[in-house]
Amino acid sequence: MSGPAAYPARASLQARTALQARAALFLLPLLILSWNTTDSAEAQQSAATNNCVSCHAGLDDEDMSLPVAEWQRSAHLPADIYCQDCHGGNAATMVEDEAHDVEMDFVGLPDPYVVHELCGECHQAQMTNYVPSPHGLEGDFWPNCVDCHSNHEIVQPQASLISIPDNCEDCHEQAIMDDYIALTDRGLEPIVEFRQAAEEIRSAGVPVDLILTQATLARDAYVERASHVFVLEKMVAVVDSLEQVYPSIRKEVETARTEVDTRRRFGWMFIGLFLVAAGVIWLYRRSLPGA
Ligand code: HEC
Ligand code: HEC
Ligand code: HEC
Ligand code: HEC
Ligand code: HEC
Repeated sequence: MSGPAAYPARASLQARTALQARAALFLLPLLILSWNTTDSAEAQQSAATNNCVSCHAGLDDEDMSLPVAEWQRSAHLPADIYCQDCHGGNAATMVEDEAHDVEMDFVGLPDPYVVHELCGECHQAQMTNYVPSPHGLEGDFWPNCVDCHSNHEIVQPQASLISIPDNCEDCHEQAIMDDYIALTDRGLEPIVEFRQAAEEIRSAGVPVDLILTQATLARDAYVERASHVFVLEKMVAVVDSLEQVYPSIRKEVETARTEVDTRRRFGWMFIGLFLVAAGVIWLYRRSLPGA
């Protein structure tokens, strides 16, 4: 029941032209958004009545019930990604055979060799970089997406946390891992800093749209060209080119901070002037006859 024959949608995905794939890459955020909105009514309904969740949560066999608890802690639950989005099947019935109906595209356990295509339906940028990487075709798809990200407890990943040392150490010397983590830090940490700075500055009332747009562009460039490439040399080139852009974003942040300081100083000046004026008025009133 698993295997390429069970993946008609995925076979056609592979057949897409490069152009379509590129277009889809840029449209991905939109696709995910529209996917969410078109399905959200259905999803909200199924949040209460999703029978995969209801039945599996109560199964005695831990292998069968644990996925529910793990998925509930994942980034997929808040994004309305349910069991059937990865396993197929019919979530609208409480009858096991109907729920597991292969006619409803139930695949059971996804085949490890096509897991990337399953995840790639929604995470196309990652799949596009992963397939030609040393871990993809060259590595016979080992490790695959779930070897690194786990299958149910999928959370926002961080290079220094992700399956290192569990998985990476099987195949890599610590030196490669250190280089890899240093590189992702060099590429991604400034973006986190810019976003934090922008939040602080925004709370002081100074506009930060430009900073946030630039940070997002940098993040997108990293994801499209460095993330899941897994060739240090190529990653270095991308991170180096990002570092050419960071000083100008940093300057933008400095300018905005100066603006915050100026506003604060004007604020104090205004309060000072107000107090002086109030004092003058008070003295004047006292000097009036009969006061
Ligand atoms: C009425 C209860 C029930 C419902 C509803 C149900 N399942 Fe299951 N599911 C089971 C049981 C019981 C097993 C274990 C079957 C076995 O060991 O043969 C199982 C096994 C599985 C497996 C493991 C298959 C394998 O080959 O090891 C997956 C994956 C799965 N279910 C996904 C789903 C999804 C997705 C849905 C909703 C579309 C769903 N289930 C709905 C009871 C249910
Ligand atoms: C993001 C995709 C994804 C989602 C969402 C997801 N699963 Fe899975 N699940 C997988 C993959 C991939 C595997 C196979 C992993 C492997 O081969 O080790 C798996 C394995 C399983 C297994 C077999 C576990 C075992 O140890 O044999 C069960 C049962 C299961 N899933 C049920 C569920 C249920 C129930 C839900 C919803 C609460 C769910 N899954 C949601 C991807 C997903
Ligand atoms: C060798 C381990 C590994 C494999 C295989 C892997 N990832 Fe990742 N993934 C990571 C690491 C590490 C990060 C965080 C750092 C980064 O982005 O470079 C990440 C980040 C992500 C992110 C967050 C956005 C981003 O790109 O930073 C998504 C989504 C993601 N991976 C999905 C996938 C999918 C889908 C696959 C399979 C096509 C996959 N990953 C395969 C290790 C892996
Ligand atoms: C039906 C669409 C869909 C499928 C299939 C899917 N995901 Fe997701 N995934 C999402 C959405 C939507 C989010 C939340 C928005 C985001 O962060 O991209 C998400 C979030 C994530 C994140 C967290 C990203 C972050 O930056 O916080 C990772 C990692 C991830 N998914 C990996 C996977 C892996 C691995 C698979 C396959 C086992 C998979 N996804 C299957 C739609 C999907
Ligand atoms: C099953 C074995 C295997 C696992 C597990 C594995 N890799 Fe790899 N990886 C390879 C192979 C093979 C290559 C290509 C040869 C080489 O550079 O070592 C490679 C290459 C790399 C490279 C490029 C190295 C360079 O010199 O350019 C990075 C970075 C990398 N892997 C990171 C990771 C991370 C991070 C993990 C864990 C999350 C991981 N790998 C898990 C097999 C694996």
